[in-house]
Amino acid sequence: MALMTASTTVSAGPILDDIAKSGELRVCFDAGYMPFEMKSKNGSYIGFDIDIGKIMARQMGVKYVPVNTAWDGIIPTLLTGKCHLINAGMTINAKRNMRVNFADPYIVVGQSILLNPELEGKVTSYRDLNDKKYTIATKLGTTGEQAIKRMISKAKLNVFETQADAVLEVANGKADAFIYDMPFNAIYASQNAGKVVHLEKPFTFEPLGWAIAQGDMDMLNFLNNFLRQIKGDGSYDRIYDKWFKN
Ligand code: ARG
Repeated sequence: MALMTASTTVSAGPILDDIAKSGELRVCFDAGYMPFEMKSKNGSYIGFDIDIGKIMARQMGVKYVPVNTAWDGIIPTLLTGKCHLINAGMTINAKRNMRVNFADPYIVVGQSILLNPELEGKVTSYRDLNDKKYTIATKLGTTGEQAIKRMISKAKLNVFETQADAVLEVANGKADAFIYDMPFNAIYASQNAGKVVHLEKPFTFEPLGWAIAQGDMDMLNFLNNFLRQIKGDGSYDRIYDKWFKN
């Protein structure tokens, strides 16, 4: 007996079967993470991950259904069946990989630093921030938070539920630095010239991958073959250029 309605949850069992039967590819992400997923002015979701998800759904012959989810609960949301996969710029790391399966990386990024302009020249790398006189902001539950705890542990850490709130701390002088994925920081810095200084060289190595529930070889095989296809046929490059160039 079905315990949950097909329109809001994914049935337990083979993921591809559920996608085919429901006619929907339900994709979890967390909007606000530029340029991967954003909410546009008219309320629709746009970005690199969104475009990839739409191509995936089109190739599957099903409807693309966006499931915008708070980052901190995104793995539980997947594992309770609210979506078929997470496509949200999620860094593949050991802790997460013990809970979910990841397809091969679709891009590699790393953490970079947005600095209060007053510190320009005084702070030139994450090492210089490792001092209790500095306050660093980032987003809850991210690899930015993990990197600060691991590598910059002497600084004071302030975590925020959204990246927008966290980065604002630097722009309005309440934090000395904001640490987050480099592509986000690059866009923020270009939109807020004078308010922040970008130390753009990533100081962590972070492959990003699509996550699914464990134990589904068929879905994993699908995702890896899909990735190879879009990388080879030019569609990956086309969307990459659309969101990452200039
Ligand atoms: N790559 C970082 C991580 O895995 C940040 C990803 C944030 N993604 C998002 N959709 N808000 O923790």
